[in-house]
This record gives sequence, C-alpha cells and structure tokens, in this order.
Amino acid sequence: MNIVERLRCNEDLTDTELAELLQTDKYDEQLRIAADAVRREHYGTDVYIRGLIEFTNYCKNDCLYCGIRRSNRCAQRYRLTKEEILECCQEGYALGFRTFVLQGGEDAYYTDARICDIVSAIRRNYPDCAITLSVGEKSHESYQAYFDAGANRYLLRHETATPEHYSQLHPAELTFPKRRECLFDLKAIGYQVGAGFMVGSPFQTMEHIIADLRFLQELKPDMIGIGPFLSHKDTPFCDYPDGELALVLRLLGILRLMHPRVLLPATTALGTMHPQGRELGLQTGANVVMPNLSPQSVREKYMLYDNKISTDEESAQSVQRLAQAVERAGYCVVTARGDAKTKN
Ligand code: 5AD
Repeated sequence: MNIVERLRCNEDLTDTELAELLQTDKYDEQLRIAADAVRREHYGTDVYIRGLIEFTNYCKNDCLYCGIRRSNRCAQRYRLTKEEILECCQEGYALGFRTFVLQGGEDAYYTDARICDIVSAIRRNYPDCAITLSVGEKSHESYQAYFDAGANRYLLRHETATPEHYSQLHPAELTFPKRRECLFDLKAIGYQVGAGFMVGSPFQTMEHIIADLRFLQELKPDMIGIGPFLSHKDTPFCDYPDGELALVLRLLGILRLMHPRVLLPATTALGTMHPQGRELGLQTGANVVMPNLSPQSVREKYMLYDNKISTDEESAQSVQRLAQAVERAGYCVVTARGDAKTKN
C-alpha cells in the first residue's frame, strides 16, 4: 500500500512520510478521491452551514498577521448591540441556519456578563440551534459561564503548535502553552472544540505543519479550521506571500483521512484566494461552510486580511446561490445543527 492508502486505513504515518505527502503533488488526485470517499462514508453529501456573526472588531491583541490587531489605526472599529445580534439570528433562522457563530476580537467591552446575556437570549429564542463562540483566550471560569449560559461549541485556532513559531506570529504576551491550555479547558468543560492553523504563514516550515498535525492528533478536536495565510496591507506581515491553494487542499485531504468524522470547513480565506476555492475544498474532504450573517454595513470592517469576500456570494442572503454552487460541486446544503460525529 502506498502512503495515501495507508492513511486511508487509519495507519499512523511517520513524520518522514507525512513530509513526503506534503511536499509532492503526485498523490494529490488520489488524496482528493480518498478524502471525498471518507467524507461521504460519514456525512454523505451533506454540507452544514453556519451563520457567522462578526459582532466586534475591537481587539486587545496585536497578532502580527491580523487586520484587526490593536495597532492597526486604519481599522474602523464597530460593535454590534445585543439587539443587532439577535436580528442576525432571526434572519439566519429564517434562512435555514441552525448554528450561530459569534466571532469577535478580544474586546473587553463584552464582559462575561454581557456575553452570557447574549448567549442566553439566543438560547431562549432558538432552543434547537447550536451556539458557537469564537472570542479568544479566556479563563476556565469564563468558558464555564458561557457554557452554562447555553453555548455548545468554541472555535479557537491554535495557529501553530510550535512555540517558537507561535512567538514569531504573536506578541510576547501570547504563548502556545497558554493557547493549548485554553483548548484543553474547553474540551474538559464539554464544548465541541474547533482548533486549526493558517497554511503558509510567515516562517512556517514543513516541520511546523507536521507539529500541527501531531497536535491535532493529540487534541482530537471536533472541528478543524484551516485556510491560507493572506497578507493584510496594514500589518507587519504586509509583504509576506500568501499561502498556496495546493497545500491547503492537500492538508484538507490529509486531515479528512486522519480525522474521518471531523467537521472541516471550506473557509472564507480559501474562498477568497481562488474563485472556486470553497468548492475545491468541499471536493477534498471539507463539509462545512460559514457564510456571513453580519449586517452588510459592518462586513467590510471585519478585514482580517486583504480582499476578504464580503459581497454577494458570501452573504447569507444569497444562501440560495451558495446552495446552488454547492450542488454543482456535488453536495447538498442541509438545514441541521450538524453536530460533530466525533466522540472521543
Ligand atoms: N490570513 C489568514 N487568516 C487569518 N486569520 C487572521 N488573520 C489572518 C490572515 N491575515 C485567521 C486566524 C484566526 C481566524 C479567525 O482568522 O487563524 O484564528
């Protein structure tokens, strides 16, 4: 058996074998076919949609890659009120969304009390929906409070599992051990947890990517978000090259084979880098898309990287057009919570 077949049979490849798989295009077609077969075994042709509500772009952090870092004076900052967030949910629910993802910068305005108030309001209004939070690093107590208020899932990308590389991408106050602790806290509390990393971030090597794959094997998250690094003009990484499509797709395929039941989004960054990016992702193992439910007026302000798609195809209002695109790619958008089938 070659390395793709062995991965397909749940065998653990060595680092050398993973490096080989990552560095050549000769397995790409075989990997795509195997990843698609495995996603169909567990999820059929279902594609889950998540309504993404980017509710604040204020952030106390200063991550070197990110367009909403605190030092970016060019960013026009905004916050959504509880009422505006609930309106997004109402609109989303009518469109068929059964998961709401509240994502934001680390914004001290949203105290635990405010977050819990928003989460419990959504929980009351939509008892059949999943609530996903993505608001960064918090204490165990805070995570517990959000969970008790009704949140079910939490997205916190690990960004890179190599501490030295982590320090090259982040200011000194952010460390990989802390990030790791947060992820294990979230798991222990009972959240469905999403981790993930950027592909092609500055200074990233094959060794770093292999460390990311090993970390994910250890964490066993329910969701894995990966997408290309895309430079943002008002950040220190403005002159670094974007990540490569082929490598993102290769990694999606590898992740589907290593984590057969994981939820794997075809990310906005993937859709931004190539007009067919999301469709290609879906054909290589991905089974989730996260259209934007934020009000049109704030969409262009949540710019994590240049040219982030914020127009038609990405908006929830055009969910029908999205469904058609997904269908043309060979899959079917479903109205379902789409809980992780990973029970580990
Ligand atoms: N390019 C690609 N992805 C980015 N993110 C932040 N900035 C960028 C960028 N410039 C990703 C990070 C973060 C997620 C919300 O967006 O991985 O976890």
